[in-house]
Amino acid sequence: MTSDLRQRKKAARIALPTAVLLLIGSAVVVQSSAPAAAAETTLRAAAAKAGLFFGVAASPNRLYPIVGQEFSQLTPENDMKPDRIATSSGGLQNTSGADTLVNHAQSNNMLVRGHTLVWHSQAGALQGASQATLNTFIGNAINRWGSRIAYWDVVNEALEDNNTGRRRNQWPHTMNRDANGDGDFFDAGDTDVIRDSFIRAKQVVQAGGLTTKLCINDYDVDGLTVQGGTPNRKADALYDIVRNYRQYIDCVGFQAHFNDNPNSIITNDLQANIQRFADLGVEVHITELDIDDDLSNNDIGAGQAENYRKVVRACLNVAQCTGITVWGISDSESWRSSERGLLFTGGNGSYQKKAAYHAVLDELNKGRNPTVPPTTPPVTPSVPPTTPPVDPTTPPPPTTTPPTTPPTTGCSATVSLDSWTGGFVATVRVTAGSAPISGWSVQLTLPSGASVTNTWNANRTGTSGTVRFSNVSYNGSVNAGQYTEFGFQGVGTATGLTPVCTAS
Ligand code: G3I
Repeated sequence: MTSDLRQRKKAARIALPTAVLLLIGSAVVVQSSAPAAAAETTLRAAAAKAGLFFGVAASPNRLYPIVGQEFSQLTPENDMKPDRIATSSGGLQNTSGADTLVNHAQSNNMLVRGHTLVWHSQAGALQGASQATLNTFIGNAINRWGSRIAYWDVVNEALEDNNTGRRRNQWPHTMNRDANGDGDFFDAGDTDVIRDSFIRAKQVVQAGGLTTKLCINDYDVDGLTVQGGTPNRKADALYDIVRNYRQYIDCVGFQAHFNDNPNSIITNDLQANIQRFADLGVEVHITELDIDDDLSNNDIGAGQAENYRKVVRACLNVAQCTGITVWGISDSESWRSSERGLLFTGGNGSYQKKAAYHAVLDELNKGRNPTVPPTTPPVTPSVPPTTPPVDPTTPPPPTTTPPTTPPTTGCSATVSLDSWTGGFVATVRVTAGSAPISGWSVQLTLPSGASVTNTWNANRTGTSGTVRFSNVSYNGSVNAGQYTEFGFQGVGTATGLTPVCTAS
């Protein structure tokens, strides 16, 4: 990706005046609610109060105190990539850097995002490997850290550059086959490395009883449109993938490397794009945020700060946007240092806050301002758009999480939690018993001090103590043995939740 993006950026410099003018022309002051009475003074604390994590990409040689002080989530910038840890047969090697990062995160109460399992770039010894070998690697990597990794990027950067909306034409995507020639890889007879890798990852997670969520991650997928109002075909292609493979995909990462490439600018429909993915029932994350100073006329003061504010606000306004991660601490230590795209100057553990830092902190402190519920019913996993074929190398995963007590009639519910200091996201799965149901409600009791701040795909009564959730119009009907999911976010600590499901 590094060289791709650098090339795209170089080419796009020619179009700089246009891009900058357009950005200025489309800049809006985003509405916000009144500041919280007592503003938090770190990014992680302000984010926790708003019900999301704020993370950073990190390396073992840069685990300065600021990492645990300001950030509540950590993504290994390079230490979990296949070129670092994979052997040619799908085994693991050289995991000490990754281990250091996971341990550091854990001792600082930070979530970890694993990055990344299947990627055309930095593949190292896996370059050219078969799906069977990729599956071996997926199993080994997921199992090594288990639930200590809250989110894994299973497939990274699968889509082509230049807004074509096509899959990449290099390995591992060269393994794909469009059996019936209809232009997609979603049919039962097709071969799709994305689908097969997610099937394998889901199987490993379920077999191990892990809470790890499985994500697809890409760049230039941030807005509904790109420069000039052209539809963002890359985002549309990602949307189709998530919609078709929703039963395996739990989360979507928008890398958000914003720069002056026409396909990489910040558009005013960023929030709407986050929302449409959220409406599919997945969590959305901003995973690798940095904002080129070109997008603020080389100003790393108020101009860049305003751009950061827009991105943070777009996430805050969508309840299912549960985390933002910046791709490094300071400009000088960034992969794109000359573009001065991060929140701090300085380096080597001594950092100075930029205007962008203060803008992000201020925006987080304003909290969420959720939009009205989606008008388009999300596609529920109980009716998958296609029936994916059985992975030839591994047995198919179960389509439902086995509930603690096998259901007969009625329904059962299970909860999976992602927690950080001061906050959590809960995903609740409602599974129908041996007969179809036409409605459901789930009751659970939150521990003292915990309360719900946002809910999606369910109606809710109450915010603390005993809270009751019930189906919305589009997910009440669940076929026998099938499931649907809803989620909620909260502040405080939520452990030991025991959901009770009642069917109607
Ligand atoms: O550590 C070696 C050093 O020993 C050696 O002397 C030097 C010589 O080139 O290379 C150093 O490794 C470099 C590494 O960054 C650490 O600085 C690699 O060459 C270089 O390729 C690597 O670049 C990383 C790039 O991904 C490729 O993996 C960047 O740090 C990292 O920020 C970047 O991150 C990617 C995400 O994974 C995916 N999305 C885009 C993002 C930015 O390109």
